[in-house]
Amino acid sequence: MSHAPARPSSAERTPLHVPHHVAIIMDGNGRWAQKRGLPRIEGHRRGVETVRTTTFAARDLGVKMLTLYAFSVENWKRPQDEVGALMGLLEYYLKKELATFVRDRVRLRTIGRTEEMPAGIQKLLRATIEETKEFTDYTLVLALNYGSRTEVVDAARAYAAAVAAGQEKLNDGSWASFSRYLYTAEFPEPDLVIRTSGENRISNFLLLQAAYAEFVFTPVLWPDFTKADLAAAIAEFNRRERRFGLTSEQLKPAAAAVK
Ligand code: IPE
Ligand code: IPE
Ligand code: MG
Repeated sequence: MSHAPARPSSAERTPLHVPHHVAIIMDGNGRWAQKRGLPRIEGHRRGVETVRTTTFAARDLGVKMLTLYAFSVENWKRPQDEVGALMGLLEYYLKKELATFVRDRVRLRTIGRTEEMPAGIQKLLRATIEETKEFTDYTLVLALNYGSRTEVVDAARAYAAAVAAGQEKLNDGSWASFSRYLYTAEFPEPDLVIRTSGENRISNFLLLQAAYAEFVFTPVLWPDFTKADLAAAIAEFNRRERRFGLTSEQLKPAAAAVK
């Protein structure tokens, strides 16, 4: 019997830096269905399954916060039957997942104008958020009726009200104080933003918060997105150098010193 040590996996040789917060623009449900001659809603139904698998895949890979773009403010303009079906699916998902979130210790939070969502969904969201609030190790954030522009408008309005009430001083205004009025006030910024389906755009998602995020665009349609695709995006994230406005040399002072 050989006692030679097992060849280290590539992950052991160069430990992956796992992004703390991953945000995903889940796109391509409609095309997934159309390719198969199925109604678009069938793609959304499969997309919900991918939400479920990705929630746990991300945690397995070491991610601490996962934000999923589930419904944009612009999505209300889709045909009424599709909007109705999406709301029905969301309700079904929330009802089914509550027990799983509690069992598997997933904290649920939302961003967006959820007060404009159907009353039944709001009730389920409130209950789920309340019942999972202690599970701070891993957080799933659903972006629902979310849009960056409405977020800025809402934040500006709340900020102005705080200035009027004397709680903020206009002259001291800084990003640090203003960003406390965004929906994401208590969340760290996303490190990695992934968009599926081959579209290379942001579609009004986390425009301010992703100011220094890395972007990975994949042609995979959301219902086909797997843990391996997520791992590949994280590997790609590891090949990037985030400079935050600095130079490479500033980021590697030790390496620069020996030159
Ligand atoms: C993403 O899939 C789900 C939502 C936007 C709710 P789409 O429904 O946008 O799928 P495509 O882009 O039409 O393929
Ligand atoms: C972005 O996808 C919104 C969500 C994923 C919820 P869309 O399909 O709505 O975006 P566009 O219309 O292609 O930009
Ligand atoms: Mg789309």
